[in-house]
Amino acid sequence: MNTPSSKALINQDKKISSLRIFLLATATVAILILFWTMGSFKEDPFITETLSIQGEAISGSKLFKINCVGCHGISAQGFVGPDLHEATQEMSDKKIINQVIRGLTPPMPSFEIEPQSMADLLAYLHTLN
Ligand code: HEC
Repeated sequence: MNTPSSKALINQDKKISSLRIFLLATATVAILILFWTMGSFKEDPFITETLSIQGEAISGSKLFKINCVGCHGISAQGFVGPDLHEATQEMSDKKIINQVIRGLTPPMPSFEIEPQSMADLLAYLHTLN
């Protein structure tokens, strides 16, 4: 039967299901955004501890010579890895710590490092500006 009133009913059903899909999609996007922001605001205890320590640039320079010059050059001028003279201006300390300990950008390896040593390295990198 295809009376005008039954057609209207079918159309209403269609409207409801597209509204449902729209709501579901919106909810999914909202949840994804929530997780994403929670992830970037989550405090990493290693980073928090490192940032609370006053680093020593001289000790950091030694650590740099042992671990980093092979790729970043003897005076951090860049070689396989980029020049690090502007690194502390272009990146937050948090990002630099992540760069060193996470190994997210091969071929740069991740380093297992004490917070004190990381703070020293950061202090050294800050002297390069
Ligand atoms: C095996 C080679 C290698 C070693 C060893 C290495 N790096 Fe790297 N590093 C790289 C490469 C390659 C990049 C660029 C990665 C990319 O973003 O594509 C990089 C990027 C970086 C960056 C980001 C620079 C920018 O402007 O994006 C920092 C900071 C850094 N390295 C610090 C260090 C420190 C500190 C050490 C020593 C503890 C170190 N690296 C050891 C290869 C290396």
